[in-house]
Amino acid sequence: MECMKWTLKRSTELVDATLASVEEIVQQLTTCASLTSTRDPTMFENYWREHGDSCTTTILGWQRMSYYANSKQFFFVQTELDQVIRSLHDVIGNAVTEGRHIVIGVGSTQLFQAALYALSPPDRATPTKVVSVAPFYSSYPTITDYLKSSLYQWAGDASVYRPQSDDSYIELVTTPNNPTGEVRQSVVSGGAGFPVHDLAYYWPHHTPITSPADHDLMLFTVSKSTGHAGTRIGWALVKDLKVAQKMAKFIELNTIGVSKDAQIRAAHILRARIGAKQLFHFAAAEMSYRWQRLRSVLTKGTRFSVPEFQPAWCTFFGEIRSPAPAFAWLRCNEEADCERFLRHSGILTRSGGYFGSNTSFVRLSMLDRRASFEILIDRLEKLQSAVDMS
Ligand SMILES: Cc1ncc(COP(=O)(O)O)c(C=O)c1O
Repeated sequence: MECMKWTLKRSTELVDATLASVEEIVQQLTTCASLTSTRDPTMFENYWREHGDSCTTTILGWQRMSYYANSKQFFFVQTELDQVIRSLHDVIGNAVTEGRHIVIGVGSTQLFQAALYALSPPDRATPTKVVSVAPFYSSYPTITDYLKSSLYQWAGDASVYRPQSDDSYIELVTTPNNPTGEVRQSVVSGGAGFPVHDLAYYWPHHTPITSPADHDLMLFTVSKSTGHAGTRIGWALVKDLKVAQKMAKFIELNTIGVSKDAQIRAAHILRARIGAKQLFHFAAAEMSYRWQRLRSVLTKGTRFSVPEFQPAWCTFFGEIRSPAPAFAWLRCNEEADCERFLRHSGILTRSGGYFGSNTSFVRLSMLDRRASFEILIDRLEKLQSAVDMS
């Protein structure tokens, strides 16, 4: 109801509505029935509405028609994007790029699969095991197993995985982690293992940048750094040339490269981001505000809890900062099925079961549009006070 009231009030305020305002109302109406909790980073839209002109991309009908791009190393990579990614990491200080090969993919989702392909020896009797510490990103098991590959196979929680001396395995290290937000390191030792570091959220608006990440295979994505998830561009920083070449081979076999139009758009967006650091400040301020709001509501009762995070020195901002993850790993302290409980109050979340955890936990997105976030907070607050009165 409060959602409908908001929409009506906003509609009357916007008598001479611009297209953007109409879109805002339509989006709001779609969230009225129940609040979704997807991973869609629509929070960034407000920033780009104001600063979008700085990365307008025009592509004429005859341009970039060929399968081939201009990189000498990988036929489908646009060098502009390779260069701007290196500059971005230099400015942010979140990853070492020197001595690294950059492979571009259709989101980091394609690069994750390219990494599995490149790191799984083809001559083994049994598939390479793919593991990650639970709670892990819920797409890892499904993406690993959907083709029932004989090269690799999902093997669950890395914290209980004990490889034999020559077992081949890949450990996915997501840091900061989706869904919990914690900073992680690889945990499996022994066997013939290779860690893949998924650094989708290692950006200063989510976590203090403590040092440049320096791992053999690191995955990044435009989706979580600027919010342009629909552009579908990710990149891998790879130390070993042979591994990078094999990943590029996967992308050639899988999609004959990556849209050059999308690469150019991503290059413009990232360049705009380097030139104007306001986006980092906007996103960091927005995330801090949201976490403060969430914590202030949750501390009013005992029904829910979320993890605590240690502040740390952020080399990018030059100050001590608290982590502000993209998701809240929310625990229902009284209900066994937290997702079901919240759904009845119009809050859609993703159950802990998908992440290799239990159903008293859910993942709550902190990246929705501001208006939806405020409604989410109102609904959580009502649930808390309902308990207090009982
Ligand atoms: C940890 C992690 N890695 C990768 C991805 C996918 O990123 P992309 O949009 O680049 O495919 C996500 C998206 O939610 C994620 O949370």
